Amino acid sequence: MHEFGVGILGTGMYLPEKLLTNSDLEKMVNTTDEWIVKRTGMKVRHLLEEGVPTYTMGVEAAKLAIRDAGLSPADIDLIIATTVTPDYLTPSVSCLIQKHIQAENAAAFDLNAACTGFVYAMTTARQFIQTGFYRNVLIVSNEGLSHVTDWENRNTCILFGDAAGAVVLGRVDQQYGIRENYIASFGNLGHSLTLPCFYLPEEERQKRTLGRERSIWQDGSEVFSFAVRAMTDATRRVVEAAGKTIDDVDLVFPHQANLRIISGAAKRLHLNEEKVAVILQETGNISSASIPVALDMYSKNDRIKKGDTLVMVAFGGGLTVGSCLMLWGK
Ligand code: COA
Repeated sequence: MHEFGVGILGTGMYLPEKLLTNSDLEKMVNTTDEWIVKRTGMKVRHLLEEGVPTYTMGVEAAKLAIRDAGLSPADIDLIIATTVTPDYLTPSVSCLIQKHIQAENAAAFDLNAACTGFVYAMTTARQFIQTGFYRNVLIVSNEGLSHVTDWENRNTCILFGDAAGAVVLGRVDQQYGIRENYIASFGNLGHSLTLPCFYLPEEERQKRTLGRERSIWQDGSEVFSFAVRAMTDATRRVVEAAGKTIDDVDLVFPHQANLRIISGAAKRLHLNEEKVAVILQETGNISSASIPVALDMYSKNDRIKKGDTLVMVAFGGGLTVGSCLMLWGK
């Protein structure tokens, strides 16, 4: 069967205007700008205004990505929205976006692989396009983490922000596009990063005795060591599967959870830090939106050249991990 080349045709992003700085956080919990910068690398996060739903960011990012691809909403065959903060379970975020951008020909579903959602969606979308089943797939990663942050817990509230990033994937010349995907899950480690929804067992309640019950909780150091190992391994896997070496990689787009996690993985890979995209100082951890937002910023600032070898690599709740190697064809 003929296989089509699959690559990114357009990118877009949306960051809310309202800012939350480290000095704002100093007034909310017992923390300091110095501690946050040293332990995470983060300086500013963007937050949705009170009462504004998550999907509205995705709508803006989607419109920009479709325009950047030179397409119109009617050209989109499928929308995959990734999020851990859906405004409704039904209608799904992807259906809300479909309605608001008027993508009348698109099927739509949500995909939850927490912070790894975008990489999972890239893998999923690739299958539809490669086989010829669909031509253009819109991936929108929308995360309104301020909705599920416990603002009294200094272990977590310093980390998260709100954002949406989008890409349109479609057919590209075979010499460009996605070469390798890798996705995996480690459900046995799921207890180390939780966000309850309808079910709140006693052990989850015990982790949240002070503040908000339905908020993100994590064992920071357990997640940290998993993240460094998993991102290193996932990067190596796609690089080797593509018959390349780390030196062949021009830019790595890692999930933006903590600068020390990114540096730890880069060090293990013997990867020059100049080849690593970092945006977390101005966004915080925006979950699955991290990679598409970084891609949009780097591409719009001409920091990606046609033919560059890119690796995207993420880890997240589940626990999950994933990576993707592609040759940039835009
Ligand atoms: N300000 C000041 N002190 C803080 C603090 C804050 N915001 N948060 C924690 N501390 C304190 C702790 O209470 C602890 O104090 P103690 O030694 O008196 O007990 C000390 O700082 C060290 O805490 P620790 O948890 O060991 O810090 P850390 O260096 O591991 O950093 C994280 C904490 C959360 C930043 C880090 O573990 C991390 O990034 N983990 C990965 C999380 C992640 O990626 N999650 C998302 C997955 S998608």
